[in-house]
Amino acid sequence: HTYSPFDFIIFGATGDLTTRKLLPALYYRYLDGQLPSNTRIIGTARSPLTDEDFRKRAQDGLNQFVQEEDHSPEKIEDFIKLIYYISLDGADPNGKWADIEKLLNSDKANTVRIFYFATAPRLYGDICDNLSNKKLLTKTTRVVLEKPIGTSLATAEEINSRVGKHLPENHIFRIDHYLGKETVQNILALRFANPVFERLWSSDSIDYVEITAAETVGVGKRGGYYDGAGALRDMVQNHLLQVLCMVAMDPPISLNADDLRNEKLKVLRSLKPMTDEMIKTDTVRGQYTANTVNGEQMVSYLEELKKDKSNTETFVAIKAQINTSRWTGVPFYLRTGKRLAEKTSEIIIQFKKSAWSLFPTAPQPNRLHIRIQPDEGVSLSMQVKDPSKSHTSLRSTFIDIAFSPAFHIRYPDSYEGLLMDAVKGDPLLFIRRDEVDAAWKWIEPILDGWARDVIPLSQYKSGSWGPQASQQLLAKDGHIWHEDM
Ligand code: BG6
Repeated sequence: HTYSPFDFIIFGATGDLTTRKLLPALYYRYLDGQLPSNTRIIGTARSPLTDEDFRKRAQDGLNQFVQEEDHSPEKIEDFIKLIYYISLDGADPNGKWADIEKLLNSDKANTVRIFYFATAPRLYGDICDNLSNKKLLTKTTRVVLEKPIGTSLATAEEINSRVGKHLPENHIFRIDHYLGKETVQNILALRFANPVFERLWSSDSIDYVEITAAETVGVGKRGGYYDGAGALRDMVQNHLLQVLCMVAMDPPISLNADDLRNEKLKVLRSLKPMTDEMIKTDTVRGQYTANTVNGEQMVSYLEELKKDKSNTETFVAIKAQINTSRWTGVPFYLRTGKRLAEKTSEIIIQFKKSAWSLFPTAPQPNRLHIRIQPDEGVSLSMQVKDPSKSHTSLRSTFIDIAFSPAFHIRYPDSYEGLLMDAVKGDPLLFIRRDEVDAAWKWIEPILDGWARDVIPLSQYKSGSWGPQASQQLLAKDGHIWHEDM
């Protein structure tokens, strides 16, 4: 794809996301030759910085977050020349909007204009009002909205309505960076280009599914946001449910964005609504406590936050059920948390064991392990004859594909492709408004039940796999998280 110069304006440009993800992603695409020379990247935020200050921050960020082998001082120098900064509160109608206008490419009718909203979502409506009043929204403008959209169904609807007043749905790109991850996209290929899997992809052959997004980091500097959100809003409402949709959806009738999103929406709408009874048996919420592992001291969530009390969950495990002919009876166990034992995002498809066995010891059922990160790849557990023993002895082994070595390529960060999709105007991997609503509809009763303490907030030691209750959630069904096998 060849790109014409475009304008990329970031609201919230002094935040973590811009430094860690957005600028490094644009830099990589610059290295790939996708940013023509009069592309402009304009950062805006309230801090009074000059272009030079902001470029310096950008440079430091790139040095830190771009892989060492891709550091080229000359290239970084060239790239940061595309960057500008305007001190502006996007929610303030009296800000320096005219300065933005002056910087933009003058060919208004044709230059693609991306406004990237990396601020608190409650400001999205105000920012859009201002963009509209200042006549900055053109036919080639797209806005990218970061998650979580709102903190509840009502607040999400309000944000979406206010943004929707000024822009048609196909110009609104709600980003979920999990959909930008290669291995999440690869679920489509895995399922729909390999009949060997798709024919088995239902309750006929699948026993249960695990979807995990585990992190070793704590909340760090993001406590202000995180303590008001919690893991359910931060990770489950968006990333985990989107991955669940990719695993569970029926084949879309085409790879057109709406056909794919229609299928994802069907999954979200088929999720069995959570009653208080189910919240008691099928959900777990936890918060990390201090611990020392291998000499590394980790403080508790409260200490990190410098607070005496917080009911915010940093760990969630949920047994989700999908009420469709394909999936009834197959639990989907979702799990995410901070300060867990490993940084890993993965999907386990646990196949059923065969009722009949030819062998003296029943064979282990097959398991498909989709590694979203790190070590992107897929492995399938298999039974083979144990070569060191008699002909009736079995042994478990794997067929394993590690993508990066297999294809000799650098694995791009999820933001790279998604940002360029927004520039191209391809919404395939972005979330449609009705998906956001459907996800909140399912999440809200859980939030509500937790707020009423239908289940207690469990504690777990930093560096562990979460509270005991998480193991029990599976044990009740006779299942076990795969790392405990
Ligand atoms: C973000 C959450 O959306 O995803 C963060 O806000 C979390 O809390 C991050 O750390 C995890 O993303 P990844 O790509 O590192 O799995």
